[in-house]
Amino acid sequence: MIKINQNLNHQLKTECLILPCVEDKRPGGELKEIDKKLAGAISQAFENKRFGGKSGQTLLLNTNGSLKTPYLLLIGIGKAKEVTPEKICQAAATAAKLAEQSKFKTAAVDLGPFETLTKGKSGLYSELAGAIAEGAGLALYHFDNYKSKDEKDDPPSRLEKLTLLITSKSRQASTEKAITRAEKIISAVHTARDLVSHPGNTVTPTYLADHAKKMARKNKVTCKVLGKKEMKKLGMGSLLGVAQGSDEPPALIVLEYYGATKKKAPTVIVGKGITFDTGGISLKPGGGMDEMKMDMSGSATTLATLELISSLKLKVNVIGIVAAAENMPSGSAIKPGDILKSMSGKTIEVLNTDAEGRLVLADALTYAQKFKPKEVIDLATLTGAVLHALGHHAAAVIGNNPAMIQKLKDAGEATGERVWELPLWEEHEKAAKSDIADLKNIASPGVGAGTTMGAAFLKPFAGDQPWTHIDIAGTAWGFDRPYTNKGASGFGVRLLLNYLEKN
Ligand code: BES
Ligand code: ZN
Ligand code: ZN
Repeated sequence: MIKINQNLNHQLKTECLILPCVEDKRPGGELKEIDKKLAGAISQAFENKRFGGKSGQTLLLNTNGSLKTPYLLLIGIGKAKEVTPEKICQAAATAAKLAEQSKFKTAAVDLGPFETLTKGKSGLYSELAGAIAEGAGLALYHFDNYKSKDEKDDPPSRLEKLTLLITSKSRQASTEKAITRAEKIISAVHTARDLVSHPGNTVTPTYLADHAKKMARKNKVTCKVLGKKEMKKLGMGSLLGVAQGSDEPPALIVLEYYGATKKKAPTVIVGKGITFDTGGISLKPGGGMDEMKMDMSGSATTLATLELISSLKLKVNVIGIVAAAENMPSGSAIKPGDILKSMSGKTIEVLNTDAEGRLVLADALTYAQKFKPKEVIDLATLTGAVLHALGHHAAAVIGNNPAMIQKLKDAGEATGERVWELPLWEEHEKAAKSDIADLKNIASPGVGAGTTMGAAFLKPFAGDQPWTHIDIAGTAWGFDRPYTNKGASGFGVRLLLNYLEKN
């Protein structure tokens, strides 16, 4: 829970006072005064280089009764001139995690230092306040739905209350607004993380569809779910092909949000929703296969983004399409060599049943054309190859419109959800052509460029309007930021929010 309080000379009762500090040679401003009260403990830390306000540096001090609060936690935010909301978000996350590990139940962040930092830029002050809330809230995510409550011997400690300390009443309204917005972002990212963290025996295509319906009911969003029958009617042989080996029925989930006049062409977001990817008949190795419960991360981000933009009442039109299926080996599963006919009419030779994401996306992308989109973005945990190229640090973007990609890169820099462009050349598109069908779902051995080849396959289905494919196989899980945890990151929600707001 995040609250606001007016800072009355550090008289607030909290277990731990968190003070953001800019990088400096010695304590200045507010820090200098506190240092006096602490008999020079802070200047000493500066002298022996224990702390200097460098980005992410921390110093936890016992105040020994010299302040109302028993502990003071200094958090470095780097050079004053280089402060950005994302940097503050990361600093807040570091501080919140440390406070929680130190077993504090309550903590308060002093926003005083932001006064000087944002002189003459009042908008930035509330942005930074929001970033504090966002970073802390995101960092304190825990997925313990499946832990029995009787682990009483050593229950994990939780930071339950975070207070933002403002310097004057005049900051109240804007800070409150920033917190409300941050809470919506936190909630949406956590929705995505939850969906990804739940195992495959909980999150099935039907579960995703039910989640979408519930979310739509609570927000100004309409939801339609196409089942097997409707898909057959539409000729979605590609998506149905993937689903045919599983006992779990597939679902094509369509969410519509109109925040602008309905006449405005929408942005369509398409998410890969493979609720478990065994590889199918081209079975994956056993080690680490459990992680393939995260193969619906693109759909989690799509659903959470629609939840977020509707709760924030963004003045944009956005359609979310989720192609949900389970990829299983069975007597009814597709086999290498099988040829599927997609909704677009194009035929696909399935040379590897583990390249299933592009098969479900093909039909979802064709379906997206129904909305005469302004632009299409697809999000998918499509290739292991993106991990080789970019690790857990950035998602790959590949598309047909450089301006759109640049905007996504900007959004990535602003939010820390970084994206990096990979090329898609004619040669790649040629390599996706089959000898006996229109396309094949994997290229011949030796072609390489795994991530690009995924996009090369999708391109013929994506339409002529601007389109960008985002491969999040490396970032949806294990994305390394102070505000993420070991598992699901919810990558893409903050990226798309920023992109949609700015454009
Ligand atoms: N879901 C996987 C990709 C993946 C790998 C996601 C690692 C997250 C972490 C995808 O369906 C897949 O298996 N892709 C194949 C494609 C190949 C057969 C061309 C891959 O990356 O090996
Ligand atoms: Zn696969
Ligand atoms: Zn997959």
